[in-house]
Amino acid sequence: MDFWSGVGGDNWAHSADRYDRQLAPFAAALLGAYPSGTRHRVLDVGCGAGTTAIRAAERATDGAVVGVDLSRAMLDVATRRATRAGLTNVAFIQADAATARPAALPFDLVMSRFGVMFFEDPGSAFANLARLAAPTAELRFVCWQRAADNPWYLLPEEIITTTAGAEPRWQTTGPGPFSMAEPQRIVDILAAAGWAEITVDALTPTVHLGGPGTVDDAVGFVLTRTNAQQALALATPETSETTAGALRAAFRSLHDGSGVAFPSAAWLVGARRSASAV
Ligand SMILES: C[S@@+](CC[C@H](N)C(=O)[O-])C[C@H]1O[C@@H](n2cnc3c(N)ncnc32)[C@H](O)[C@@H]1O
Repeated sequence: MDFWSGVGGDNWAHSADRYDRQLAPFAAALLGAYPSGTRHRVLDVGCGAGTTAIRAAERATDGAVVGVDLSRAMLDVATRRATRAGLTNVAFIQADAATARPAALPFDLVMSRFGVMFFEDPGSAFANLARLAAPTAELRFVCWQRAADNPWYLLPEEIITTTAGAEPRWQTTGPGPFSMAEPQRIVDILAAAGWAEITVDALTPTVHLGGPGTVDDAVGFVLTRTNAQQALALATPETSETTAGALRAAFRSLHDGSGVAFPSAAWLVGARRSASAV
């Protein structure tokens, strides 16, 4: 949690536009079928810099959206973006979604783009989200499949830790990007937390690392990520240059004319609040 309220959130806020360009296919999957003009109240969990909350607010013209996040820096970006878009039906609050009770509840749609994998106790967090939801509310989120199926993440991490002689920092268990990688675990957690009609569908779009751009853009993006900054914190200039060179060499062959392209694998998870949710 400290990671997101501190350096992790600051870093993401700094590169928010690049993350958005990289993650654009997942915003489309999350909100593609979401109708315009609804009166829905929407909760965006781990809303970050506000992209999906803002998109929902543009569609829920007679409704309202609340984005909740741990990171002040990201919420500041979100607020600026919403103001720039002239939206008055979206609010952002700094809180832990595992325990938050926003005043606007109950929500008709609880959604998240990659914001629900970091709970210390996912069972109790998803139970809290069920308590914030209206009786027939929908839950809809995207989360990553296994790290091994997401080379956009793993390959740069491996290059950086190898050339910098640093310990690998990615986690495959416990709170972290890949904590919801197993579909059965998702189903078990949600069912016990008061959600029913659970669906888990694969999303496997090609992603451009840091969004469309040059090889050097992608190298620059990767080197500003928190893991890279930490791995290279004590590195000599020569080691840092070796790392950048190794990334450049690997990315060159992956450039598809638009950007450095990688396969990705996520789950699109859907559910309804169960009648027995408490
Ligand atoms: C990978 S980022 C995704 C951000 C945003 N949803 C997007 O797609 O651009 C994960 C987000 O979840 C937030 N987050 C993690 N744990 C949280 C919690 N317990 N409560 C609220 N936000 C949380 C982080 O601060 C971060 O903004």
